[in-house]
Amino acid sequence: MLIVANWKAYVDDFAKAKKLFALAKRLSSSHASIVLAPPAPLLGALAAGNKSKVAFAAQDVSRASGGAHTGEVSARSYATVGATYAIVGHSERRTAGDTDTIVAEKLAMALTHGLTPILCIGETERDGEGKYLSVVREELTLALTPLTHKERTKVIIAYEPLWAIGKTASAAIGPNDLSEMVLYIHKVLAELLPGKNSARALVLYGGSVEPDNAKALIENSGINGFLVGHASVEPDAFSLLAKQLVR
Ligand code: PGA
Repeated sequence: MLIVANWKAYVDDFAKAKKLFALAKRLSSSHASIVLAPPAPLLGALAAGNKSKVAFAAQDVSRASGGAHTGEVSARSYATVGATYAIVGHSERRTAGDTDTIVAEKLAMALTHGLTPILCIGETERDGEGKYLSVVREELTLALTPLTHKERTKVIIAYEPLWAIGKTASAAIGPNDLSEMVLYIHKVLAELLPGKNSARALVLYGGSVEPDNAKALIENSGINGFLVGHASVEPDAFSLLAKQLVR
């Protein structure tokens, strides 16, 4: 089980960041691995000298490898301070202008610098005709096709339907719909990954994961973990959520 805590810009003071890191250390176990995705400066400060089982993810990486790009943070600089994962293509970055081409460039950049990419995909709305399936297929295909076969096997997929992000457990996807989508994602991956690698690919779910729905989603859908937003910065909720995943 992988729990990726996407702090977004919710956490902006170091004292709170340190508390959440200490909690993550207590909660991580041999059953559930916790990956924290703090804002860049906080990631740098927390990851320095980190010897715990908790890992760190960039919330995004620059498509540029460095140079004259004020405000951008390169994949290499994340790697150098101890990040080992990178979220790429989060819907909030896509809304801010990341196209599928940019997402593909960022994926390649993360891989070049040894970061395991967590590729976010997901439809804006659920229509009655199943168009949401083609949205997911297209996002996956456009992101993975430029990569080599070996690189494609390293990408973790986070299915995050936009309509379910930032709501509450009751507005999130249910286990049946999620399990259908997880099967579909593996089917598309079978066309994109070499050999039998699609069966080994990790698929996470994100979008209003809270203590109230975590257990049902994990037990009945075939996912390998969660990308958690708002509930990951509330210590009580995060703790309840993580404890439910330890089997
Ligand atoms: P949420 O965010 O858990 O607050 O819905 C998830 C995400 O956007 O990664």
